[in-house]
Amino acid sequence: DWTMRAFREESIEKIRAQVGKGRVICGLSGGVDSAVAAVLIHEAIGEQLTCVFVDHGLMRLGEATQVVTLFRDHYNIPLVHVNAEEMFLGELAKAGADPEAKRKTIGRLFIDVFEAEAKKIGGADFLAQGTLYPDVIESVSFTGGPSVTIKSHHNVGGLPERMNMKLVEPLRELFKDEVRVLGRELGLPEAFVGRHPFPGPGLAIRCPGEITKEKLDILRLADAIYIEEIRKAGLYDTIWQAFAVLLPVRTVGVMGDARTYESVLALRAVTSTDGMTADFFPFDMAFLGRVATRIINEVRGVNRVVYDVTSKPPGTIEWE
Ligand code: XMP
Repeated sequence: DWTMRAFREESIEKIRAQVGKGRVICGLSGGVDSAVAAVLIHEAIGEQLTCVFVDHGLMRLGEATQVVTLFRDHYNIPLVHVNAEEMFLGELAKAGADPEAKRKTIGRLFIDVFEAEAKKIGGADFLAQGTLYPDVIESVSFTGGPSVTIKSHHNVGGLPERMNMKLVEPLRELFKDEVRVLGRELGLPEAFVGRHPFPGPGLAIRCPGEITKEKLDILRLADAIYIEEIRKAGLYDTIWQAFAVLLPVRTVGVMGDARTYESVLALRAVTSTDGMTADFFPFDMAFLGRVATRIINEVRGVNRVVYDVTSKPPGTIEWE
């Protein structure tokens, strides 16, 4: 792609000009954006970059391994893998059920980890993030009104002022589809480039209410089954984003001849071009029935599955 080749060259120059001889830490989230940002920055400044993958215990099934493998084996880019599950889940337990309190807690802990890692490499001057244009817009104001924060995306403007590092955000002017083109241009594997977006706060915002490891484990398994069925049906690439949400609601059911009293799981799938507006995906009912049956049979703790038919607006894509 001609435009992206030009963008790539320009970005590399800009990054070099901004960073000089400084050291950069880049947080990898498991998503496409941070991966593309990391590869681009690595191309610009090579060994001045250290990538940090913070495993906060809020990842999807198998995700940590996939990210680490991609960077260590495919790219040979130095990567620090921080296991911070205990810290994140401990602090989230204190944050309680409020969505903004959860997001802010996660944002703060990310910074703590980045600062600690920066110290270990003798200090870093910059923190790199894969912030996109829609992240910038949505965190600043809602297009329909004056400066109302919809959600404090942790990777935009939400950095504590005490942080000493400056931001490097080479994708700030791009939309998702452009980032994917750039990712291909940079040689990222197609399977990685085509991945559905995954939010920095991870499964914490797909688990309304208080976060526990037990709930996360239920959600991870159910989500993996749902995505597997979507792939089997050949729908993965048609859908912008699909995921499960574990509701803090229990309902009565019956299994065999016993009464059950377990959680409700909601399924979400939307089409979109930039995440700023979205339509719910019209699965056929047979597909939804199949997924529901599998999840209820295979995931202990879920006895009812519902499908979210809300578009954006008025809904947001994530539930929190
Ligand atoms: P919403 O829920 O606001 O989501 O309609 C729009 C897109 O942004 C993703 N999202 C986030 N990404 N940090 C991120 O990196 C966040 O805090 C965050 N919140 C939402 C969401 O998954 C969707 O793709």
